[in-house]
Amino acid sequence: MDKSLSAFRINNERFRANFETLAAIGATPDGGVHRPAFSDAHLDARRWFLERAKQIGLDARVDGAGNHSAVLRCGRADGPTLLLGSHLDSVPYGGRFDGALGVVAALEVLQIVKEQGISLNTHLEAIDFTDEEGHFANFFGSLGLTGKLQPEHMQNPRGGRDRFQEALRRAGLNESSLFSAGRDPETVAGYLELHIEQGPRLIESGMQIGIVTSIVGIRSFKIRFLGRADHAGTTPMGKRLDAAQSASSFTLAARELVMKEFPGCVVNVGNMEFEPGAFNVVPHTVTVALEFRADDDDKLDEMETALLKQASIEAQRFRLDSEIVFLDSAAPAHMNKQIQEAFANASKALGLKHTFLPSGAGHDAQCLAQICPTGMIFVPSVGGFSHSSKEFTEWEDCINGANVLLQAALTLAQ
Ligand code: GLV
Ligand code: MN
Ligand code: MN
Repeated sequence: MDKSLSAFRINNERFRANFETLAAIGATPDGGVHRPAFSDAHLDARRWFLERAKQIGLDARVDGAGNHSAVLRCGRADGPTLLLGSHLDSVPYGGRFDGALGVVAALEVLQIVKEQGISLNTHLEAIDFTDEEGHFANFFGSLGLTGKLQPEHMQNPRGGRDRFQEALRRAGLNESSLFSAGRDPETVAGYLELHIEQGPRLIESGMQIGIVTSIVGIRSFKIRFLGRADHAGTTPMGKRLDAAQSASSFTLAARELVMKEFPGCVVNVGNMEFEPGAFNVVPHTVTVALEFRADDDDKLDEMETALLKQASIEAQRFRLDSEIVFLDSAAPAHMNKQIQEAFANASKALGLKHTFLPSGAGHDAQCLAQICPTGMIFVPSVGGFSHSSKEFTEWEDCINGANVLLQAALTLAQ
């Protein structure tokens, strides 16, 4: 890189002040944030983003999938754009770093380039993707932008269609606008994302920067076990068609199956809904939220077959019926080698210890990787905690990550 460009650093105080302002939106008393996609707090956070963009003098835009952007025009008018970003939504009662760090860092990078008058050949865009956490459907903002969003991704939104449509309406979107967000890949020079690791590997090995090599694929389903409602006091135990039995038995069996047959892969039953859901009624229906992850598509296919077969075995075991509903899937992805190298060079130049590692968490980067060179870096998560208010990253590590992002962006946008 040009020697003079390697001297630029982000503005620590401003970066922190912006991060803290954002963390106050939807803050929970225990230090986390509650900003599920399209909640009031999430929409407030997105308004804050657009206001910040305008204060900096960037062009603010919102696409049909609700992705929020702040654009700094640097190159030829018709030249491509390098995207930098993450997401401002959170899981319910999540942490303040997941997603937010990458968005605030992206804005800071653009502000540095603008105020320092750095001349680049590629436009820069800070982006906040819609619903990264899959409150309604995994990654639908980034899938929309890549043009890979399919009607089936939206057919069974988590939480139901009515709730989804109401949420879209509140955000000024609708189901058909989601499909208008697709961009021509020729216009996208690449995508860079800074994120917290969300696991213990960096902190335990004393590394400061994790350069992501690949991201797991994720699939999710709802499985309904269908039995019969009965009086919980008078129906003999052997005569019940109790949906709770199949659901519990499936949960244990799924864990065993994945640990035994699919080492290195993971499965989660994250929710069960009981109907009618009363102490004194045998549940006629239990709906199980199933998600599983693997680093390649063949393995995901095999897991899908094995887990869905297990669901039907567990239904039959208790003389129940079952119904499978596909929710969504995200393909596994490899990160671009040249971008990994740019991150490694930036880390070395900044004197930071770096390592290469795969991501077990899903990220918008895996969608972007389908259409453009994509790279991601992680900074250490204290205790490895994430998706909880315990999520914490030392501020010095946040600064390090933002400086690596800045340096890599300058290299790639030159
Ligand atoms: C996103 O955070 C995911 O991995 O579920
Ligand atoms: Mn997350
Ligand atoms: Mn995230």
